[in-house]
Amino acid sequence: MSIRARLTLWLCAILLGVIALMGGGILLTQWTLATREASNQIALIEGSLKRTASDALLQADDLLLVGNIKFLESQYPPLAFAEIRWKRPPADQTITVGFPPQGAAISRRLTVKDPFSPSKSITIAFQIARAALDSKATQSVKRIAKMTLFSGTAAFIFFVVFAFEFAKSLTAPLGSLATLAEEIGRGRFGRKLPWRSRDEIGRFVEAFNAMSERLATLDESKKNFVSSVTHELRSPLGAIESFMPLIEGALDDPSTAARSSLRVYLDRVRDNIHRLRLFVEDLLTSAAIERGSMTCLLAPMSIPGISRDILNLFQAKAENLEVTLREEMPSGLPLVMGDADKLRHVVVNLVHNALKYTPAGGTVTIAAAREGEHVWLSVSDTGTGIDAEDISKLFKLFSKGRNSDRTQDGSQGTGLGLYIVKSIIEKHGGEVRVRSEPRAGTTIGFSLKITAIKQEGAAREAPHSGQGGLS
Ligand SMILES: Nc1ncnc2c1ncn2[C@@H]1O[C@H](COP(=O)(O)OP(=O)(O)OP(=O)(O)O)[C@@H](O)[C@H]1O
Ligand SMILES: [Mg+2]
Repeated sequence: MSIRARLTLWLCAILLGVIALMGGGILLTQWTLATREASNQIALIEGSLKRTASDALLQADDLLLVGNIKFLESQYPPLAFAEIRWKRPPADQTITVGFPPQGAAISRRLTVKDPFSPSKSITIAFQIARAALDSKATQSVKRIAKMTLFSGTAAFIFFVVFAFEFAKSLTAPLGSLATLAEEIGRGRFGRKLPWRSRDEIGRFVEAFNAMSERLATLDESKKNFVSSVTHELRSPLGAIESFMPLIEGALDDPSTAARSSLRVYLDRVRDNIHRLRLFVEDLLTSAAIERGSMTCLLAPMSIPGISRDILNLFQAKAENLEVTLREEMPSGLPLVMGDADKLRHVVVNLVHNALKYTPAGGTVTIAAAREGEHVWLSVSDTGTGIDAEDISKLFKLFSKGRNSDRTQDGSQGTGLGLYIVKSIIEKHGGEVRVRSEPRAGTTIGFSLKITAIKQEGAAREAPHSGQGGLS
């Protein structure tokens, strides 16, 4: 049986119980009142008969007695029959008034003695018709029973509809969730339930929707990952493989031309090995980030030191691509708190991106500037820029922009670089900002907190340079 049917049944059963208890209670109370009223009536009749008998004894008038009893008979319809036995020596007299009732009757007997002559007494045996006595009480109980039944039935019908709708509203999302779960089980991710409520079910649906969306993202990531990894591994390996016969040929040739060609081939092989190393490093770092096991060991460090390392690392590649690689470091920058290795990785990714998307003749600049308690380090280029719609998703795992197939060095990338950048900077408590204009260039920068420790020559530190303000 479905939860909806079960819930409806339970609610109806509860209502039925409540109606039965209330109706039963009302009827019982009414019945008790009616029984008490009947006893009062009998007591009233008995009292009146007693008074009549005692008056008749005092006045020694049997006609008065019969007349009064007839009057009482018309006064109290339940008093159906009375047999009066007048004991007065020498002879007793018996008179009857009315007729014994048909059906159930209550029989009573009373004796009244003459206070002045104890040998004289009147005994009245009377019968009260139960039907006449009960009729008023029964009618009122019946009326109440009818009313209870009517209002109970109306309330029950209303409640069945209400209970059904209520159960439906509670269980409706469960059925849809079951269908959605089946779809997810079949590998179709990303669909969401349009259910909005602030209760527990609303929160459950929200969590389920978030899960479906996350699974869709992961699925998308997995697909992107497989195709990107295949490309990123195959293309440098293919390049290295194709240089091998050329290198072997140049090794056998002692001429000067062959020597200089050999150098070029080896440079290319080294470039491709470097590319492979960066890729594997990115893969390992992003795996550590996903596992939550990436740690940053923060220590006071100098920004210009990192900038110089990166310039040295990429100078040859920039020259090959005919791009000017330069730095703008104001003198006397304060030390920042950071993990030097991780931050080097960040800047490597940013410069690598900038070189990939900057055509020959362009410029890539590593700049730093102090802003309050932070130093902003940014990498700017005069390259293709990023499409406005892409900017918000670029920091997600395996997310690439639509310009990713128009790189200067032919590598398509895997969409790991900016994800790693953001994760590392967040671990430092910093912020990443992007400013990009299609066909004009891109600036990606991040902030690092200045440490209180002063480096040598800090007294000569320059004030704000005013650069690095990113949107
Ligand atoms: N300087 C830039 N100029 C233009 N587009 C950029 C620049 N930097 C990043 N992008 C865009 O952002 C996307 C994501 O960059 P990210 O570094 O995360 O991945 P990737 O460079 O494609 O691959 P990977 O860094 O893993 O080799 C790129 O695919 C590209 O579309
Ligand atoms: Mg990159």
